[in-house]
Amino acid sequence: MNTVVAIDGPAASGKSTVARGVAQALKSIYVDSGSFYRGVTWWVLRAGIPAGDRAAVIRGLAGLRFEKYLSEQAVRYRVDGEDPGTAIRGEAVAERVSEIAAMPEVRNQVNRWLRETRELGPIVMEGRDIGSVVFPDTPYKFYLDADPAERARRRHAESIAREEGRDVAQVLESLRRRDTRDSGRAEAPLKVAPGAQVIDTTHRAIDEVIQAIVTQVVSWTASR
Ligand code: DC
Repeated sequence: MNTVVAIDGPAASGKSTVARGVAQALKSIYVDSGSFYRGVTWWVLRAGIPAGDRAAVIRGLAGLRFEKYLSEQAVRYRVDGEDPGTAIRGEAVAERVSEIAAMPEVRNQVNRWLRETRELGPIVMEGRDIGSVVFPDTPYKFYLDADPAERARRRHAESIAREEGRDVAQVLESLRRRDTRDSGRAEAPLKVAPGAQVIDTTHRAIDEVIQAIVTQVVSWTASR
C-alpha cells in the first residue's frame, strides 16, 4: 500500500509550501485537499446555486464530473471538463468554501476522491482532517500551526490578496472567520489528530520545517 503523509492545520499555517517541499523530497505526489473543496465551491458559485440551498448543492454534486489527473507530481482536476485555475484562490470562493465544506454530503464525496489519489503512488496530502478522518490509519501525521497575525501576513504576501486590494487587517479578519467556521463545525472540525506531531511554524523557516518532517518520516519508516 502506498504511504500517506498527512499534513493538517489552519489556513496559511505554511502547510502548502511545506507539503509541496516534503512531497518533492520524498518523491511523492502532492495533494491539496482544500483545492478539492474550493473546486466544488467554484462550481456551486458558477452554477448560481444560492447560499444555503443545501438540497441544490447535493443534487448538483451527484451529477458532477470531477476528473483527477497528475501534473508535475501533483494531483489536479477538471470540474465538468473545466480547470478553474486561479479562480479557486479568490475571495469569492474563500468566503463560501467553509459553508460548502461543512455539508456532510460534500465531505463524503470529497473524501472518496481524496482516498482514490492514493492509487496513483505515495502521497503527501495537506488539509484539515487528513490525519483524523481521510487517512486515520497512516502513521505519518503532522499538524502545523502559527500565530494568526503571522498567518495573515503570509496570506497577504500572496499576490491574489494584494490584487484584490485587501490589506493585512482585512485578511486577518477573513482568516479568523474561516478558522471559527472550520473549527466549530459538527462534521470533521479542524483539530489535532491523535498521534499527530504538532509543529509551530511562527518563527521557523519553511525549509527547516520541511527537513524536520522528512527526517521524521524517514526515521519512522526505517524503524517499522
Ligand atoms: O486549505 P484551504 O484554505 O485551501 O482550504 C479551503 C477550505 O476547505 C477551508 O476553509 C476548509 C476546507 N477544508 C476542509 O474542510 N477539509 C480539508 N481537508 C481541507 C480544506
